[in-house]
Amino acid sequence: MKESIQVFAPATVANVVCGFDVLGFAVNAPGDEVIMRRKETPGVSIKKITGDEGRLPLDAEKNTVSASVQHYLRHIGREDVGVEIELHKKMPIGSGLGSSSASTVAGLFAINTLLNSPLSRQELVPFAMKGEELACGSGHADNVAPALLGGFVLIRSYDPLDIIKLPYPESLYCAIVFPEVDVPTRDARRMIRSKVLLKDAVVQWGNVAGLVTGLFMKDIELMARSMKDVLVEPVRSILIPDFEKLRETALKAGAITFGISGSGPSVFSFAKDEAAAHHIVEMLQAHLSGMKIGSLGYVSAINGEGPKVL
Ligand code: HSE
Repeated sequence: MKESIQVFAPATVANVVCGFDVLGFAVNAPGDEVIMRRKETPGVSIKKITGDEGRLPLDAEKNTVSASVQHYLRHIGREDVGVEIELHKKMPIGSGLGSSSASTVAGLFAINTLLNSPLSRQELVPFAMKGEELACGSGHADNVAPALLGGFVLIRSYDPLDIIKLPYPESLYCAIVFPEVDVPTRDARRMIRSKVLLKDAVVQWGNVAGLVTGLFMKDIELMARSMKDVLVEPVRSILIPDFEKLRETALKAGAITFGISGSGPSVFSFAKDEAAAHHIVEMLQAHLSGMKIGSLGYVSAINGEGPKVL
């Protein structure tokens, strides 16, 4: 077993507008880093966390990274192993960019690699879902699966878990803007209605099927007209300042699509190339500045790789 390892895991855009809890993709930046070192005594401890402004627990039972690593070690019968973890948050918390999953995935990929990969990336998904449950009260996989597997991912079923990697047009760029208002996933999930009308469900599954078909056919127009959400966005968008104006701004700046990233408040667009994505980010940030709201912007291609050893 190696003595130490440093791993990066990417941020993710979950839902991808119409696919609540079933679609997600990974981006190259931002993301989180974990440094894991072997220690003499068995057990998992958190040595230090940076970049979280003191918001994340150092208690190994409560921290999603250490808790999921502990769960993994118990599952593979290696509770004799001792590791200490440094977590370097390089992305905002509560942003809708899969912040907790990036950390958890980095930790799980680190321990699995240190132990010579007894489990495949697919097999790590349920452990990462446990981390999500701890972080926001729900074990959804649409952040952790793309963070672990890279690329565009469909969770066809949760029980049994059935995860499918989808193709995507390589030329697509993603523009992301995080308006600096806090929207905890736990709260953003509570506000969604648990019952839907059949007529809305028909629209939604037509759009999910359309988006998946668009990905396979690399038909960006089909993707664009399918990325509409009649179930979740109408409710959650009220948490995002000037959401409809932001949509108008993005589309005017050349965006192919516009929607909420995960549970928000980050918003994202697809663009036809890198320059267009930068322009969209600039325009969205300018609109938010006009409202005296600070923001962070990111431009990235879709990340086909997932976590990586640094
Ligand atoms: N599918 C989840 C949700 C993603 O929308 O609540 C959370 O980032």
